[in-house]
Amino acid sequence: MEIIIQPTQQAATDVAARLIARLLIAKPHAVIGLATGSTPLSLYQSLISMNLDWSQATTFNLDEYIGLPREHPQSYHSFMWENLFKHINIRKENIHLPDGNATDIPQFCEDYENHILAAGGIDLQVLGIGTDGHIGFNEPTSSLASRTRIKTLTKQTCIDNARFFGSEEAVPKHVITMGIGTIMEARQNLLLAFGSHKARAIAEAVEGPITSIHPASILQMHPAVKVCLDDAAAGQLQRADYFRWVYENKPQWQMI
Ligand code: GLP
Repeated sequence: MEIIIQPTQQAATDVAARLIARLLIAKPHAVIGLATGSTPLSLYQSLISMNLDWSQATTFNLDEYIGLPREHPQSYHSFMWENLFKHINIRKENIHLPDGNATDIPQFCEDYENHILAAGGIDLQVLGIGTDGHIGFNEPTSSLASRTRIKTLTKQTCIDNARFFGSEEAVPKHVITMGIGTIMEARQNLLLAFGSHKARAIAEAVEGPITSIHPASILQMHPAVKVCLDDAAAGQLQRADYFRWVYENKPQWQMI
């Protein structure tokens, strides 16, 4: 894991945006895994302002609520169109999001996995992290080998996401999410976290034991993970000084 700590959210976002831009330029037909939530908003704004060519790129989103109409402002479908897709030149047919209204959810999930495979696998997966350590919507105790499937949200995640729905009760309880096994097959993972409310989840993911109680900790087993943090989200890392030192002393050819 490469831990990149920057003084501000914008500086950490800029590093992540440069990584994605570099991928899209080197591989115009890249397959990019995308995330929702408040964390990637600044990343999407930066990517939009870079005017990149997405015409050959393919995207797969991590997750979606079950039962929300696509047009609902809080569906991840709406989120992605509003905050990224309508601002870039991606082809509609190259965009993939879980369908929270699929009539046969297990079949849909199997098909989603097959679409990822048919696209050649995910080159780079963007991730946020829940305060309980979830990635995608893989809540604590999710199988570390899980594939795309239905999950039930924890009470904590419903509380965390109540701000988007007005109340905890209004948050859908069921979701479709890529599995942890699916995420681990991406060639690169790029985890972003900002703010002191994420500091404990990040410390457990980076420096804690690998355990399904803290799903993001499995990323320690992935060969190519970058974690972009602001100072606040790095606030509970015991080795923060070491991570800063490593980043400041990168050889020139490794600079991001
Ligand atoms: C949400 C999403 C995750 C996201 C996480 C953190 O529920 N399913 O993909 O990373 O929780 O959200 P936020 O970025 O708003 O803190």
